[in-house]
Amino acid sequence: MRKPIIGGNWKMNRGTPNESREMLESLIPLLEEIYNVDIVIAAPFTVLTNAYEILKNTNIKLGAQNMYFEDKGAYTGEISPKFLKEIGVEYVILGHSERRDIFKESDALINKKLKKALSVNLNPIVCIGEHLEEREAGKTKEVIKYQINETFKDLTKEEMLKIVIAYEPIWAIGTGITATPEQAEEIHIFIREKLRNKFEMETADLIRIQYGGSIKPSNAEDLFNKKNIDGGLVGGASLQADSLFQIIKAANNSFK
Ligand code: PGA
Repeated sequence: MRKPIIGGNWKMNRGTPNESREMLESLIPLLEEIYNVDIVIAAPFTVLTNAYEILKNTNIKLGAQNMYFEDKGAYTGEISPKFLKEIGVEYVILGHSERRDIFKESDALINKKLKKALSVNLNPIVCIGEHLEEREAGKTKEVIKYQINETFKDLTKEEMLKIVIAYEPIWAIGTGITATPEQAEEIHIFIREKLRNKFEMETADLIRIQYGGSIKPSNAEDLFNKKNIDGGLVGGASLQADSLFQIIKAANNSFK
């Protein structure tokens, strides 16, 4: 049994205290009857402290969108995982394709960040996924296999159980083009097989694998009803309380 998890990835949006408060205060009352899904809002660093105050007695957990792999020191502009932990952050997104593509983060760097996050008890949501050209060249599984091997290098089974994997085909992110439930499920099954080879079946079957890429209220139910899709990482549709609520409800109903 894997409880679905929905992450709202606000990216560089809703970054002022007023706009984030407005969104969260509209969302909280909608979620009172939601018990079967873990909910995370990954907000910009600038509003994490405010968001913590708003969310602290609710069923919504706070997430960050990035972190550095050292506790402290001369790293101008970077954020320590310990700082995040101390202000009440529980999750951190690592290896998002925007970090990989725009900021040139490598699998090796993501692996370092991942180990650091685990060492301070932050729960990582680790993104993997292929570019359109890679899919069109029939290389999706090759790319995913490589990312799994490099990103999860030298991790123990116990550590893997604390990780959420987000399969996000890059061609589906922010484009309005969602992978079909069948396309997504095929890759989720593939990811789980690779995890079984690497960490044994019992562990692999407990690891949650979210889908991400243009999830909307209209496609969420079909995606989450697939056996290996354990919720989603939601960008654009997480900016409005009502659309995020519809998606959370679909995940809640998919838990059997
Ligand atoms: P999207 O973003 O839902 O806007 O496609 C998803 C993500 O980047 O995590």
